[in-house]
Amino acid sequence: MKITVLDGGHAVARALARSIAEALREKADLVLGLATGRTPVDAYAELRRMHQEGDGDWSRASTFNLDEFAGIDAGHPGSFRQFMRRHLFDGVNIDPTRIYFLNGAATDLDAECDRYEEAIRGAGGIDLQVLGIGSNGHIGFNEPGDELIARTHRVRLLASTRQDNASLFGDDPSHVPAEALSMGIGTILQARRIVLVATGANKADCIAQTVNGRITTRVPASVLQVHRDVEVLLDRAAALRISPI
Ligand code: PGA
Repeated sequence: MKITVLDGGHAVARALARSIAEALREKADLVLGLATGRTPVDAYAELRRMHQEGDGDWSRASTFNLDEFAGIDAGHPGSFRQFMRRHLFDGVNIDPTRIYFLNGAATDLDAECDRYEEAIRGAGGIDLQVLGIGSNGHIGFNEPGDELIARTHRVRLLASTRQDNASLFGDDPSHVPAEALSMGIGTILQARRIVLVATGANKADCIAQTVNGRITTRVPASVLQVHRDVEVLLDRAAALRISPI
């Protein structure tokens, strides 16, 4: 893993935005895997700003988001699709037909997961996958537990994860859907390149376990150690507990 420690959250956001913009310049039809959560929001704002200044042509890029809540439709203000629209898609010239999302309102959720895997394959696979990390070590909605699932699948969300997402649902965790759909660990590992971003002291433990610890289903992000091209962008607070490797 290539670890980069930067001065603060803004520096991490700029570095992530630069990395995405560079990838777009190198490959106009880039297939980008995207994450929601608080951490990438400033990077998305920076990408919108860059696009307004003429840097970043998204017209041929495709995006696949990591996960989506089940039981709500794409228009629901709490959905990740709406989150991405607000924070990124409305501010860049992406072709709406190239924005891929899991449909949490599908009648057959298992078939929907298969469709998503097929769509990723059909696009030629993900070139660059952006990941945040939960303070419990989850990536996407692959929660810690006795086992991890390789392919895109349904997930029952942990209480802590519903709490973390309450701001999207009127600050009431009981309004956060109990289930979600998520790319699996294998789907994520098949991305050609991965950039994981983490900021803040509440990520210091899971980052240390991800970077220095054993590979374990108890820390889903630790599986990233087996990938050959992972960059980890951290601020000083999130990097506090890592030891030199
Ligand atoms: P956060 O979420 O960026 O809001 O901390 C990260 C995650 O849960 O994957």
